Amino acid sequence: TSTSKPKSNASKKTSGALKLRSQEWFNNPANTDMTALYIERTMNFGLGLDELQSGRPIIGIAQTGSDIAPCNRHHLVLAERVREGIRDAGGIAFEFPIHPIQETCKRPTASLDRNLQYLSLVEILYGYPLDGVVLTTGCDKTTPAQLMAAATVDIPAIALNSGPMLNGWYKGERTGSGTIVWKARELLAAGEIDETGFLKLVASSAPSTGHCNTMGTASTMNSLAEALGMTLPGSAAIPAPYRDRQEMAYMTGKRIVEMVRENLKPSDILTRAAFENAIVVNSAIGGSTNAPIHLNAIARHIGVPLTTGDWEKHGYKIPLLANLQPAGEYLGEDYYRAGGVPAVVAELIAKGKIQPALTVNGKTIIENCEGRFTEDRKVIFPYAKPMMKNAGFLDFSGNLFDSAIMKTSVITPEFHNRYLEDPADPMAFEGTAVVFDGPEDYHRRIDDPKMKIDAHSILFMRGVGPVGYPGAAEVVNMRAPAYLLKKGVTALPCIGDGRQSGTSGSPSILNASPEAATGGGLALLKTGDRVRIDLKKRTANMLVSDEELALRRQKLEAAGGYQYPPSQTPWQEIQRAVVDELSEGMVLKPAVKYQKIHAT
Ligand code: FES
Ligand code: MG
Repeated sequence: TSTSKPKSNASKKTSGALKLRSQEWFNNPANTDMTALYIERTMNFGLGLDELQSGRPIIGIAQTGSDIAPCNRHHLVLAERVREGIRDAGGIAFEFPIHPIQETCKRPTASLDRNLQYLSLVEILYGYPLDGVVLTTGCDKTTPAQLMAAATVDIPAIALNSGPMLNGWYKGERTGSGTIVWKARELLAAGEIDETGFLKLVASSAPSTGHCNTMGTASTMNSLAEALGMTLPGSAAIPAPYRDRQEMAYMTGKRIVEMVRENLKPSDILTRAAFENAIVVNSAIGGSTNAPIHLNAIARHIGVPLTTGDWEKHGYKIPLLANLQPAGEYLGEDYYRAGGVPAVVAELIAKGKIQPALTVNGKTIIENCEGRFTEDRKVIFPYAKPMMKNAGFLDFSGNLFDSAIMKTSVITPEFHNRYLEDPADPMAFEGTAVVFDGPEDYHRRIDDPKMKIDAHSILFMRGVGPVGYPGAAEVVNMRAPAYLLKKGVTALPCIGDGRQSGTSGSPSILNASPEAATGGGLALLKTGDRVRIDLKKRTANMLVSDEELALRRQKLEAAGGYQYPPSQTPWQEIQRAVVDELSEGMVLKPAVKYQKIHAT
């Protein structure tokens, strides 16, 4: 735990002449030639020589919205308000596009592109005359990718999300992004709706512009960006179409200019204390299992040590306070009306769970959020009477992997009764492994009665980590075979080296690292092996002798290691060669050594 005292940014305010990095381009007496070349083209869009040499901060707007990135498309509108804020504060706005990412349309998986968007933004921030940047976040991977880039380059940066969509409704009930798909699939399989009904039900969850309105990965990562201190307070939860979001865009534009003048950088904000705060908030909001991957990645790029063990240590015992889908009932509009992140943080501050880390407005998160309690106790529960205790992640290890996490807040009573109620062994269960190599293998065999899957089987999905399935597939949560569903066994324990959608409510053990493809223990597992999971000891082991495992490893290595499908694109091949494990943030390993590269 950090011992840093509350620190205000007042001491950092510069009163004298501020040296802007953009002036290295536009006003560099040592290189008049270069200056002339930079200026003649920049003047093309209507900026005069005086304006470019006036020393006004030049602020990038990293534009992630486009027609193929609809979750972030609202930024095309918001950027106008950001621009006005920048200009009113005395800055000059330079808007530019970066590599787009859209979660549900990108194949094979959008997370393949997180590091590509990161790379493209690093190059722009480093290589162009920008003094600060507004990161237009929203859809799942766009938030971590841009925060990672801001961490690497370390010029003043502030995040603004597109905002959640309005609540979805169908026949008087809330329908939430992603989460409704899991339910719609069940209704379709049970014959209660037809295919048109399926499409209509799913479409009802997306009634407006904006990102997912559930506490999936998008709302999680934007709430955590706010908890980290990288957005203005109260920013994350404002629904996309609300007037308040336009105002927040304007304020964000104004603030980044002041941040440049104060030289307030990501490295001042993204401290160990800030990451611990974000872990605590993630538990309280019932955040996505993708959060550890992305937060650990941001931490690595800013140089703060952070492990999956820290997630359990600081997050596990924190209760669930936000009653939002998938862990609860409500959606984005309710979250905002109930007070959003500041109202959740106010509960945590009152219990001493939040440290006074600095935020983009120059104040600490405690100064920003203390006492901002909700007025809607249906949506944000009091800490003393939470929706659920111990809502964080457990971090498992054993001969199957070194690290894998489990979101315990989504364990259903059915699951609990079947696996965790043995009075002699209340926190552990054993089962027989059924191993699938990738999602295609799973779909081919899951309903085959010859597989002899029963209520005491444990389903394994391997070959779906960052190397095995470029970017790591969201496929670890697997439905049980149809013949078991009919008998009322609706969920089997699932374990794997891939990810799981943030909108899914399955208590899988996932993000297993190292993955099978890089030689993790999962590669040695065989269908029929007995496996023991102990929630108290946080262990996950195949009950196979060391001698037998050594033999299996010899055989695997003789066969050239765990086999996975070839790359389909150049980027898949490039990333596979240099990507780290999920527990290490799935970062590009050679990128980590580039720290704070902002100097021109
Ligand atoms: Fe883009 Fe959920 S699919 S925010
Ligand atoms: Mg997702």
